[in-house]
Amino acid sequence: MTSNLSELAATANSLVAPAKGILAADESTGTIAKRLESINVENTESARRTYREMLFRTEGAADYVSGVILFDETLRQTAADETPMVNLLTDQGIIPGIKVDAGAKSLAGGSSGELVTEGLDGLRERLFEYRQIGARFAKWRAVITIGNASPTSACIDVNAHALARYAALCQEAGLVPIVEPEVLMEGGHSIETAEEVTEATLREVFRQLSIQNVNPEGMLLKPNMVVSGYDQLNRARATEVAERTVRAFLHTVPASMPGIVFLSGGQNDEDAIVNLQAIAKRGVAMRAPWELSYSYGRGLQAAPLKAWGGKPENVPAAQAAFLERCRLTSAARSGAYAVT
Ligand code: 13P
Repeated sequence: MTSNLSELAATANSLVAPAKGILAADESTGTIAKRLESINVENTESARRTYREMLFRTEGAADYVSGVILFDETLRQTAADETPMVNLLTDQGIIPGIKVDAGAKSLAGGSSGELVTEGLDGLRERLFEYRQIGARFAKWRAVITIGNASPTSACIDVNAHALARYAALCQEAGLVPIVEPEVLMEGGHSIETAEEVTEATLREVFRQLSIQNVNPEGMLLKPNMVVSGYDQLNRARATEVAERTVRAFLHTVPASMPGIVFLSGGQNDEDAIVNLQAIAKRGVAMRAPWELSYSYGRGLQAAPLKAWGGKPENVPAAQAAFLERCRLTSAARSGAYAVT
């Protein structure tokens, strides 16, 4: 292993250390606006800082959080007492990461609603700067929608190609790429369709990663779980979700990759945990070669956001809610969550 690769592999392994997972706090300014709007808080830079600083200063969360994905603004921001946000994390042994894509845009020539993620132009320079500021890993999210005429193979191909270009640039810059091909759960599709599309997407993503010389040992995958579309009436239960999810990975993901960190994708808090635990247990039963963990945004933040409500007096309650979500998600990842 070259020293660059062994460092990447060490970081990737630390991010999926036993009982730990990732907090995704990298909402773009537009997405965090929606979250803050839901609690009637104006989307100002100071509100974003106050909210995120509250999460990062939650005592005990470092037992469950190995890394935090930041948005560009946060990576460069200081806390209220002028401590760089990055230092708030590294002082607790938490690894800072950075979202580097420029968002999913309408795909020209695609079927209705299909998207392609932008952000490759100038990425090499940005990655070197992010590493200097302190990031050790990065994230790029591609979005695949399921509809009557989607996904098209063109949509899967261009998104997989861009993910691999991003991942290769990350490894060159000394950042662990988190490769996120998210098959959206929105829609009325069956779990069979979700499995088929997820597997086809992963197959193309790993084909492109291999063609573009991305080393699986120095990267992580951040996928959706294979679940029924949200609008399905009889949605599949956790054991079926787990079986189909783990099977899709066993068919497509190299054994040398250290870990798979799931997104929560808008599942309710209970589903995000129960499904994660079922997948973790299925992984053990099937002798899956990767750590199976989490990289949750909404799954960790929905409860503290609500408990906070933008009020300083609610900070202790919000931090307690955040710690509890972290504790439960970690327990699920270790197969130790008591299903009620
Ligand atoms: P959710 O867990 O809310 O899906 O967010 C994770 C993420 O980082 C999406 O890119």
